Amino acid sequence: MILVLDFGGQYNQLIARRVRENHVYCEVHTLTGGKTSADKNVKSGLGTAINFSAIRDLQPEGIILTGGPQSVYNFSGKEQGFLPPEEIFNLNIPVLGICYGAQAMTQVLGGAVKKSEVSEYGKTNLKIIRDSKIFAGVEKNSVVWMSHTDRIFDLPKDFVATASSENCPIAAAENPAKNLYAVQFHPEVLHTVEGKKILSNFVEICGCRRDWQMDSFVADKIAELKNKIGAGKVLCALSGGVDSSVAAVMLSKAVGKNLTCVFVDHGLLRKNEPAEVEAAFKNYDLNFIKIDASERFLTRLRGVTDPERKRKIIGEEFIRVFEEVAKKIGAVDYLVQGTIYPDVIESGLGKSAVIKSHHNVGGLPDFVDFKEIVEPLRLLFKDEVREAGRQLGLPENIVSRQPFPGPGLGIRIIGEVTAEKIKIVQDADAIYREEIFKAGIAPELGQYFAALTNMRSVGVMGDGRTYDYAIALRAVLTSDFMTAEAAQIDWKILNTVANRIVNEVKGINRVLYDCTSKPPATIEFE
Ligand code: XMP
Repeated sequence: MILVLDFGGQYNQLIARRVRENHVYCEVHTLTGGKTSADKNVKSGLGTAINFSAIRDLQPEGIILTGGPQSVYNFSGKEQGFLPPEEIFNLNIPVLGICYGAQAMTQVLGGAVKKSEVSEYGKTNLKIIRDSKIFAGVEKNSVVWMSHTDRIFDLPKDFVATASSENCPIAAAENPAKNLYAVQFHPEVLHTVEGKKILSNFVEICGCRRDWQMDSFVADKIAELKNKIGAGKVLCALSGGVDSSVAAVMLSKAVGKNLTCVFVDHGLLRKNEPAEVEAAFKNYDLNFIKIDASERFLTRLRGVTDPERKRKIIGEEFIRVFEEVAKKIGAVDYLVQGTIYPDVIESGLGKSAVIKSHHNVGGLPDFVDFKEIVEPLRLLFKDEVREAGRQLGLPENIVSRQPFPGPGLGIRIIGEVTAEKIKIVQDADAIYREEIFKAGIAPELGQYFAALTNMRSVGVMGDGRTYDYAIALRAVLTSDFMTAEAAQIDWKILNTVANRIVNEVKGINRVLYDCTSKPPATIEFE
């Protein structure tokens, strides 16, 4: 396996994903202090935290130090977790430092990092100036993705520069004898044209066997869950989406009858969804329970307009419902959630910035009455979860279901959530989905839905004036949900949808299409 040490960059998990694409298992951990390897399991952000002695015990075949928002020269090494300890570079394990990670390696080994005269952001031309194993088969001149304000000025002893860019004379460097590599650019990002090749070269340098497959992840996780939970009782939050369904089936294989799956109808689901989810899971051996909690969610959301506040209320209410069910069952220690990586990173855990509090991560209340929250899919991207679902034998209609956020229509209704607005967005969304399905374009789209704007505008219907809401339609192309492009849906389809919505949904007199990508927008509206 390759270990990724996370220093807080937004795209760090992409590194792990690119390594896994090379069929090598990879985990992301946050570096921490602590004296013994038993200190490694402190929960923090992405993976668990890990300290030097745990890394030494783990014996990864390679280590990657990620990018991050800090400046290495603000740290002396005494602070917890901001610089790798020097001993990491003496373990005889190849190390690749990326951006902040490259600078951290440089500083710790005696080189110098300072603020750059010119920052580089975005596409930059890289010139390879010296042969290197890390650049084997890579074009001498290629486009890379840069994002830095600091740069390496002086190299540590026994290091040589291997690549440069116009404003960064040391854009890559290495100590080939010790297999230590530093790159200022981001090979994990697809804009770095030769990035995949460079990461593949690092995997080669590490001597990894490239025999890891998703089925080994599934089998290992089930064994790990079995070991951890033993004969304990487990409650699983099942929404019917692919993430929680995969988590539920994994748990069922790990603990059998000791699992109870709870589907909470918070009243913010899509049209007919509660009945559909119940029908889909009734026949699985999951101890499926459906709870109608729509009244209490709606009551708590009354008058609330702030998106983060809404998310926190929904996140907390979910937990309270689960706690009540757990009390009825008795002696339930574990709550399982289908949290996946983008939920974690956007909630701003670890050393990253908060984008929005996903209900199952940042939206959690401070006090949760379970011994532990278990999240077996926490380090996977959506398409990797789908692959895991297929390995587990889940039917394709569940595996390829488009994602639906935990807070549901609560974050697709801008402003206050009311029963009237829920009905409007449910009806409009059902029409949109029906037409997309009829047109046969659903499989191409990552996600598509209607959201109710808080804007009312003037229209004319029959011979009279209307003053009604505008509904926004969104459809995006994405595979990892970290970045997305607006889909160019055929105008004829949009026209049919718009006509049907204004004619069939009371309260809507205008239909808008969202053409924004992510970033700068996000996929959901709140
Ligand atoms: P954004 O809006 O952040 O969405 O671009 C990225 C993906 O995450 C889904 N999403 C959520 N999923 N709980 C979830 O389970 C949440 O709180 C949540 N917020 C967003 C969103 O639907 C998209 O697929």
